[in-house]
Amino acid sequence: MCGIVGYVGFRQAVPLVLEALRCLEYRGYDSAGLAVHTGSHLQVLRAEGKLVNLLEKAYAASISGQVAIGHTRWATHGPPVERNAHPHTDDRKLCAVVHNGIIENYLELKQELQREGAHFASDTDSEVIAHLLAREQGSLLERALRVRRRLGGQFAVVAMDRREPGVLVAFRQGPPLVLGFGEGETLVASDPAAVVSLTRRCLHLEDGDVALLSAQGVYILDAADRPTSRAEVVLDWDAGQVERGGYKHFMLKEIHEQPGACAQTLQVLVGEQGFDFSRWGLPPERLQALANVHLVACGTSWHAAHVGKFYLENLAGIPCQVDYASEFRYRKPILPPGSLVVGITQSGETADTLAAMRFAKEKQVPVASVCNVRGAMAERLADVQLPTSAGPEIGVASTKAFTSQLVALLALALAWRRARGEPDETLERRLLQLPYDLQQALQAAPPVEAVAEDLQHARNALYLGRGVLYPIALEGALKLKEISYVHAEGYPAGEMKHGPIALLDENFPVIGLCPAFELAEKTLSNLEEVRARKAPVYVVGDSEHPRLRELAKKLIPLPRLPWPLLPIVSVVPLQLLAYQVAVLRGCDVDQPRNLAKSVTVE
Ligand code: G6P
Repeated sequence: MCGIVGYVGFRQAVPLVLEALRCLEYRGYDSAGLAVHTGSHLQVLRAEGKLVNLLEKAYAASISGQVAIGHTRWATHGPPVERNAHPHTDDRKLCAVVHNGIIENYLELKQELQREGAHFASDTDSEVIAHLLAREQGSLLERALRVRRRLGGQFAVVAMDRREPGVLVAFRQGPPLVLGFGEGETLVASDPAAVVSLTRRCLHLEDGDVALLSAQGVYILDAADRPTSRAEVVLDWDAGQVERGGYKHFMLKEIHEQPGACAQTLQVLVGEQGFDFSRWGLPPERLQALANVHLVACGTSWHAAHVGKFYLENLAGIPCQVDYASEFRYRKPILPPGSLVVGITQSGETADTLAAMRFAKEKQVPVASVCNVRGAMAERLADVQLPTSAGPEIGVASTKAFTSQLVALLALALAWRRARGEPDETLERRLLQLPYDLQQALQAAPPVEAVAEDLQHARNALYLGRGVLYPIALEGALKLKEISYVHAEGYPAGEMKHGPIALLDENFPVIGLCPAFELAEKTLSNLEEVRARKAPVYVVGDSEHPRLRELAKKLIPLPRLPWPLLPIVSVVPLQLLAYQVAVLRGCDVDQPRNLAKSVTVE
């Protein structure tokens, strides 16, 4: 959803801004651009397409300056061509701005500015901000305060002014902005991943904040124009984590990081205190007093919520509902006393998830977050923060954040069960060994490759699972369509006969999830129905089951595990499968077309 960055300090700004943009490119890759204060004027460079095109231009131009802003675009208003790339400037090139979000009243503002003689060079909503900033009177900070009030919609903006060489302004309403502080240098960006190469000391701006950045630090005014300070957070990431580290793609690296990501999540959440969540604001008496849970999320996190529902209901005995965050408030859900709303989000910045959490807060319902980014908006909104600790996830298709979410939800269910006086110590111990199971699942790569070879020319695929593995069928299908553009659907295996079976023929591969668990025989019968329609059957499942071996065209073995661990382990071969199909099809795995990792508009 667009990545923005700004640097002010003592070093050459262009390489730093380009490096930060590299970490933000997952947010959009329709075009990229930067503006540098050269001391005398604002020099703007922009390029259509991926960041590499801007890199070439920037190195050829070799612009010098210690203050710069940059942008990577996910197009909303106007096609992805160079004239719509950010930064945008006013007619006289006094101001340059980068923007993430949507200015809902831009047409009205644009017409007003045009009547006053402004000439627009792009089709974007964002350009109005540059014209407005240039036309106001006073210092850049004063002008930013006034412009912020005129803008409707959601925005994170970083702006510079030719007449004020040593400063930047940043302001936000909706999309995130994080400031990072080095010694004599300050960076602002859409995501901490872009800050971590400079510093781990950072702070998140709040809605309505306007910040004046200089090499010495920051001065912040809140939504009511009062000077304010925001709590500093220390990132639990380091610079090496935002590198590919020898892997061809971030996604592959992140798939392989899952044992470590889940171990770290368990270490932080459970640690030495065990399955008592008192230190997370959920002591046994509070858990006992809660009567039901509503899980809200988007995309892959929504699939995690569906697995979480099984954990909470079947292990902890707590009624649980799952909603798409984008639907939650519009369906006007009933939230009876004793409800807890949990927002599950990797980034902590997904607009729909935040809106669902805010809706619950307005109804005075307590809100928890399961979030991977410390200090992100979801954590700031939540009364209870349950952290996942997967480290930065750069690949657009979520992998290690997903399995870490499952681990967190399972740990929560076990803590809840313990609070109800029925601890399942065997499962608690078994969960702590999960990283070894994930390690083994990663070694299943060779049979996955053979299935990928078969699937690479498929136009469709159907993923089937039952019970707690149905959400994993959904996730497997989502991974395949996201990164390889093969149409895929996930379906409850027993529901297939009510529709999708009509699609099946010898060109329609079906991937069945059938490990050893209580619904294995029923899933197997459904897979028999598939074979009877001549569709090729691939199975992720129990290799010791003789009928399954005979049925499957190819079988990716899954070890025998307690049912709550099956979703976490069985998703790994499906992630690898989607990855390998995408590579065989020549797709851009880390930056699939039209997608953005963090969706900060509704
Ligand atoms: C986007 C991403 C998905 C992600 C979803 C929710 O659609 O492409 O990978 O699952 O947003 O993101 P969140 O950060 O809230 O988990």
